[in-house]
Amino acid sequence: MSMKRVILVCESVYGNTQKIAEAISRGINKNSELESVVKKTGEIHTDDLRDYDAIIFGCPNHDQEPALNLLKFIDRASIVHLNAKTGAVFDTYTGGNKDVAVKKLEAKVREKLPGIQLIGRLSSKVTGRKGPLADNEEDKALEFGIQFGQKLHTS
Ligand SMILES: Cc1cc2nc3c(=O)[nH]c(=O)nc-3n(C[C@H](O)[C@H](O)[C@H](O)COP(=O)(O)O)c2cc1C
Repeated sequence: MSMKRVILVCESVYGNTQKIAEAISRGINKNSELESVVKKTGEIHTDDLRDYDAIIFGCPNHDQEPALNLLKFIDRASIVHLNAKTGAVFDTYTGGNKDVAVKKLEAKVREKLPGIQLIGRLSSKVTGRKGPLADNEEDKALEFGIQFGQKLHTS
């Protein structure tokens, strides 16, 4: 079986969402048949997505919505013919807003990138607007990456 490649595309103002992305990536990379990279939206072109078997999108909750730069990136990506068939979404949030932005992100991906089957969703808590991440959130993200990797590997 050939190596499968995963890209995590994230937005992060204060670095917390990026830390979650990197933890998920480490979890995926524990599977020797998989290789993943983390990129911010400004670091890549939407055409680059064609090089990957799976795409994971993540961003902070900004006023109960997914961060705008990621939504714009997904809009631009909708004209790309993607090879990726599998994906997942995640967000970071404060207070009681678990899952609020990530559910909207999920709906956005389903609408704009219908070729991607979403097989995972994660919402990670930060203790304040700038962070840091709440206890155990990086461990949970690592575990999420391991689980995602297992599903992708067997799909
Ligand atoms: C402009 C702005 C609006 C925000 N609004 C919300 C909100 O409505 N609900 C929430 O849970 N967190 C909100 N937050 C907190 C962010 O979720 C938090 O800053 C983010 O998770 C940190 O991730 P980052 O370090 O990757 O930027 C807001 C943050 C900013 C900067």
